[in-house]
Amino acid sequence: MNVCYIGLGSMGGRIAKHISRAGFTLTVYNRTVSKAKAFARKNQCGYDTSIKEACVGAQLIMMCVFDEAASWSVIKDIVAHAKEGTIIIDNGTASFEHTKRMGELCRQHKMHFLDGPVSGAEPLADKAQLAMSVGGEKAVLNKVKKILMTFCRSITHMGPIGSGQLCKIVNLLVGFHTKQGLREGLEFVQAYGLDKKKVLKVILDGSSYSYTAHKNAQGWVKGNLEKMVTPLTKKDSVIAVNHAKNKKLRLQATELFATIINK
Ligand SMILES: NC(=O)c1ccc[n+]([C@@H]2O[C@H](COP(=O)([O-])OP(=O)(O)OC[C@H]3O[C@@H](n4cnc5c(N)ncnc54)[C@H](OP(=O)(O)O)[C@@H]3O)[C@@H](O)[C@H]2O)c1
Repeated sequence: MNVCYIGLGSMGGRIAKHISRAGFTLTVYNRTVSKAKAFARKNQCGYDTSIKEACVGAQLIMMCVFDEAASWSVIKDIVAHAKEGTIIIDNGTASFEHTKRMGELCRQHKMHFLDGPVSGAEPLADKAQLAMSVGGEKAVLNKVKKILMTFCRSITHMGPIGSGQLCKIVNLLVGFHTKQGLREGLEFVQAYGLDKKKVLKVILDGSSYSYTAHKNAQGWVKGNLEKMVTPLTKKDSVIAVNHAKNKKLRLQATELFATIINK
């Protein structure tokens, strides 16, 4: 199966590397072409300078771009140039509504769409240990599962298009609260003059251990939590709050977290 990967950022670049290493025929595209060129040289795969060219001959097109504006512009370009029957997977994090629109656009062009957001960030992406939640037809997923397993430790089919993203949002909620706990914990430690390294040992050895806590441990000890809240965290917090509002849910801690980090 010929694979095309679009968007070689922190996540997409790592994912594409595993697909290439597993021996699948891969062509990559990135908006900043120099990144695609460098990636292709390093990973011995093809690259193209436009989405139109990158789609030629692709049976599976995957993408991981920054936000919904980016994924909408990319998918419009894909459906204009890919052939009927192509399978398209979005590995980025997006809202349910946006994802349904992408699915509908693909359907109109007789292409198959799956939402396949990933969880695990860079460290687990490096180890090909991402957790993917998938929305869309199971039969379509089964056709490409072998390729997805080159970078995932688990692939969970959730249901129709958009349900992969809804699952990803729940995962985000849990991560947000750990992050806010670490932020408040740091303030507490500083106020009481506790030894951060000792407190961290207790957190990581005890019941509050989590991957998120582990991943942010070094920054926490240094009192530097900047890397914990990135532009992606801000984007994702807004997505989560909007979904809660759509269902008239009061996710108070999430709303507060989103307000704090976006101010
Ligand atoms: N990083 C993580 O830990 C992580 C974990 C799970 C999910 N995600 C999700 O994965 C997605 C990508 O995250 P990332 O960390 O890989 O982001 P990133 O490192 O900032 O990379 C963003 C990618 O999107 C491309 N892009 C941005 N705007 C574009 C546009 N208008 N048209 C075409 N391409 C565009 C960028 O191209 P250029 O190189 O030209 O800028 C780059 O390839 C996001 O939805 C994020 O929420 C990230």
